[in-house]
Amino acid sequence: MAVLNVNIDHVATVRQARVTDEPDPVWAAAQCELAGANGITIHLRLDRRHINDRDVRLLKETVACKLNLEMCMAEPIVKIAEETKPDQITLVPEKRVELTTEGGLDCVRHKKRLAQVVRRMHKKRILVSTFIAPAKEQIIASAQTGCDAVELHTGMYANARGPRAIERRLAELEAGKDLAMENKLIAHAGHGLTYRNIGPVASIEGLCEFNIGHSIVARAVFVGIREATAQMIALIDKFSTQD
Ligand code: PXP
Repeated sequence: MAVLNVNIDHVATVRQARVTDEPDPVWAAAQCELAGANGITIHLRLDRRHINDRDVRLLKETVACKLNLEMCMAEPIVKIAEETKPDQITLVPEKRVELTTEGGLDCVRHKKRLAQVVRRMHKKRILVSTFIAPAKEQIIASAQTGCDAVELHTGMYANARGPRAIERRLAELEAGKDLAMENKLIAHAGHGLTYRNIGPVASIEGLCEFNIGHSIVARAVFVGIREATAQMIALIDKFSTQD
């Protein structure tokens, strides 16, 4: 059965719009968990534009389901992960000017650093996933550096227009998932997934964890985050072919 981690960064984005104390991502995480989310995902960015150190600390204490920390491999952030010990980290590239994480991590180019970070996380019993394009060399580099999982970037699928382009992106994701599993990596997916496009991705057998943020928080404005989370879980359950 595929499961959902709700990315609650946008809740912190609303708070930071006024640099105040509401809405609190800690409250949001509890609501997601009550709706049945498997996990809570947060991205601690170098510029702390949404999630901050206090959020990471409190969420580590209060989240009972999986806490997945998205992060780049910069040393100060790696140290925070070692100290906080989330259940899982997902390594992403980070550019200061981007609106959201744009491309996947280049695990080939950063192989040496990636292997170091994996070793350090494993010492603290933290699972390591890499956010990557569904490309052979990235999957192999993730496996060779000892990662536990890969999160296949679904942004190209989400942006594809027309049935042929969509089919091509789905085929890439399916092939990426197969190669990941052959290399003993757990296959996750995320980025740009919505209530409208989740179906075909959730139908790919073996993709077992989805990280979804924007679409859920956008719907939460109208129906509340507990209901928005429950609706996404219902869709994943409906389309997921695994038992
Ligand atoms: N996965 C990763 C690695 C991400 O960086 C993000 C965005 O923070 C997501 C998933 C969630 O993407 P979206 O907000 O488009 O659902």
